[in-house]
Amino acid sequence: MNRIRRVGVVGCGVMGAGLAEVCARAGLDVLVAVSRPGREADGRRRLTGSLDNGLRKGKISEGDRDAALARVSFTADLSDFADRQFVIEAGPEQESVKLDVFATLDKVVVDENAILGSNTSSFPIVQLGRVTDRPGKVVGTHFFNPVTVLPLVELVGSVLTEDDTVDVAETFVTEVLGKQVVRTKDRSGFVVNALLIPYLLSAIRVYESGVASMADIDTAMKLGCAHPMGPFALSDLIGLDIVQAISESLYNEYREPHYSPPPLLSRMVSAGLLGKKSGRGFYDYPVREKVKVA
Ligand code: 3HC
Repeated sequence: MNRIRRVGVVGCGVMGAGLAEVCARAGLDVLVAVSRPGREADGRRRLTGSLDNGLRKGKISEGDRDAALARVSFTADLSDFADRQFVIEAGPEQESVKLDVFATLDKVVVDENAILGSNTSSFPIVQLGRVTDRPGKVVGTHFFNPVTVLPLVELVGSVLTEDDTVDVAETFVTEVLGKQVVRTKDRSGFVVNALLIPYLLSAIRVYESGVASMADIDTAMKLGCAHPMGPFALSDLIGLDIVQAISESLYNEYREPHYSPPPLLSRMVSAGLLGKKSGRGFYDYPVREKVKVA
């Protein structure tokens, strides 16, 4: 396991930056791919902001923050990933983007034992594997937002993934990154989103039926069920575009009505009201929390 020292993270949005932070704090050499040249500084700013938050909260020392920052480099060119031993793709939930990234990684990553992981929340892992010549090394590594705080990783082997790949990935994620793994089959939503997304969609339907205000629905679930956040605040944290994308993927796979996106969600996504990352979703967020998606 100790052989994995050089990690690549594709994407530096909310999840990519969180993954980079967790890997850097575990002492790994981390290379982050941003979506285009010029976005490197945005990525570093996002990472620094989160590390500063950890420092303020007393989770890390100033020395830990500086050491973690020094372990992370940024690039806009995936061919720089040639020497990576474990790559986690955390790009947008768009089929064409993910397929392109995996086809490119397959060409550039030299080590034939390198593991190519995806943080996808709904896209079939087998399809990512099939655009490579090494589908046995492709695995789903699904982290949760905020990555620095939530301990779970869903580990997803497709019908083409080698058992050894899943075993090595599990040891890496648990022993090196300090997370807890649940293994799941390659089905849309895996475990968490198959249960969570219908709950979030139900909250929107309850609101649209006029039963209670958004704020009261959130308060009810926080105080009545001890959830850390209500469904509207949580949807804003995840991103409404992501909630919609997972909902569509679940609906396409299972055709069950409770997975279909309610009209309000679709209208908000069309309007660019994506939640915390865009500054407005079900709630408004202060300007300082608006960050460009890298
Ligand atoms: N490093 C380490 N720890 C950090 C940190 C950092 N960079 N930043 C914050 N923390 C710690 C804090 O110190 C605190 O820990 P403590 O309770 O031991 O003191 C903890 O994180 C909480 O942070 P805050 O005090 O800043 O914030 P809150 O107490 O308001 O909690 C929250 C915020 C963690 C987001 C909490 O409300 C929560 O857990 N909400 C639920 C989130 C959730 O369900 N996420 C899953 C979404 S689903 C998903 O991601 C899958 C996708 O596919 C859709």
